[in-house]
Amino acid sequence: MDKLRIMSVFGTRPEAIKMCPLVKELASRPEIESLCCVTAQHRQMLDSVLEVFDLKPDWDLDIMTPRQTLSTITSKCLLGMDEAIDALKPDMILVHGDTSTTFAGALSAFYHQVPVGHVEAGLRTYDKYSPFPEEMNRKLVSAIADLYFCPTVHNRENLVKEGITNGLFVTGNTVIDALKTTVRKDYTFTTEELNHLPYGEKKVILVTCHRRENYGEPMKHIMLALRQIAEQHEDVELVYPVHLSPVVREAVDTYLRGAPRVHLIDPLPADEMHNLMARCYMVMTDSGGLQEEAPALGKPVLVLRRETERPEAVAAGTVKLAGVVQDDIVTMAERLICDRNAYARMAHAVNPYGDGNACRRIADAILWHFGRGEKPEDYLS
Ligand code: UD1
Ligand code: UDP
Repeated sequence: MDKLRIMSVFGTRPEAIKMCPLVKELASRPEIESLCCVTAQHRQMLDSVLEVFDLKPDWDLDIMTPRQTLSTITSKCLLGMDEAIDALKPDMILVHGDTSTTFAGALSAFYHQVPVGHVEAGLRTYDKYSPFPEEMNRKLVSAIADLYFCPTVHNRENLVKEGITNGLFVTGNTVIDALKTTVRKDYTFTTEELNHLPYGEKKVILVTCHRRENYGEPMKHIMLALRQIAEQHEDVELVYPVHLSPVVREAVDTYLRGAPRVHLIDPLPADEMHNLMARCYMVMTDSGGLQEEAPALGKPVLVLRRETERPEAVAAGTVKLAGVVQDDIVTMAERLICDRNAYARMAHAVNPYGDGNACRRIADAILWHFGRGEKPEDYLS
């Protein structure tokens, strides 16, 4: 029997971190030829992940331009995907999450009548413009997909409510699979500065911020809140690997740079980032991925957004929504910095997002779909 040609498509840092372990799992199956097409919606930040996971794509659309718009990303992906699909002839295309690459990858697969598997399916805020454009991207991909790999039972329920009842699997999130390969107790950082941070002696707070809906006023509030926290607490060190987006860099330069006890550094390779998270005191972020990783590592998270599509760790008590208003963010951060009990209540490891076997379940589900294996058990957290 011919091998199944399963093509994973991704383009940004978080998609790469969550898809590299899956591309490798698929490659380990004798029934599958695992193909990898990157759009390079992110160039440097994607390449960094490919290096960490030692993965060489079969196809690279190389679309990134500085300050790219949603329309340029989508149209360049669509045109490039035509060629990739014609050349690589996949039996199924896998897309991940909710980026413009995800949407364009799924739409392109549909135009070529290739079935689509959606990894990290079923996340919702039910607010069309927040996160923007991700909430709409994932809804549009849900309309196109044939197989849905939901990280949690809650994600599956969201899809069922929308009338999607076939092709649903609860797998856990592949990010937990990735964490299993990167976090080590005896890890030595290649970014020298990180080896010398006063972990334990001071409260090292890991920060990231990049979301489009936070551009402008919300990002200004976030930066000023971070500045205030650093200025007012001598026992705190903020470590902030700044996203390469020029919009984000401008906000950081205008409102945060120069504050005491703030370490502004370039984006970190995924393994460095994960090990820094494992050692820090707490996390402040608007990132989706960090909301999943930090709880698994027992680190409290303050989410710099008004909503989240990841309510599981909020329910488990390790993640809180801090919003995007300066005073609110400062108040919530100070509670965790100054109140030992409040900190202890949030600092416990929970794993609602997976047991590290998501990739195995997804590969099994794909083989089952094509009549070549047993249906996998759902992951029940
Ligand atoms: C994208 C995703 C977002 C995801 C985020 C992860 C969309 C619409 N947004 O947002 O869902 O959370 O990635 O980080 O798909 N840049 C570089 N080098 C890089 C990466 C980015 O220079 O390696 C700069 C470029 O100027 C680029 C800009 O950052 O134009 C913005 O990148 P883009 O992918 O458009 O948006 P993100 O905010 O990164
Ligand atoms: N990350 C990284 N280096 C950094 C910042 C983040 O490797 O300097 C990782 C982080 O650990 C997580 C992923 O990138 O796995 C999250 O990506 P991002 O915040 O860019 O996007 P989101 O998850 O919000 O879509």
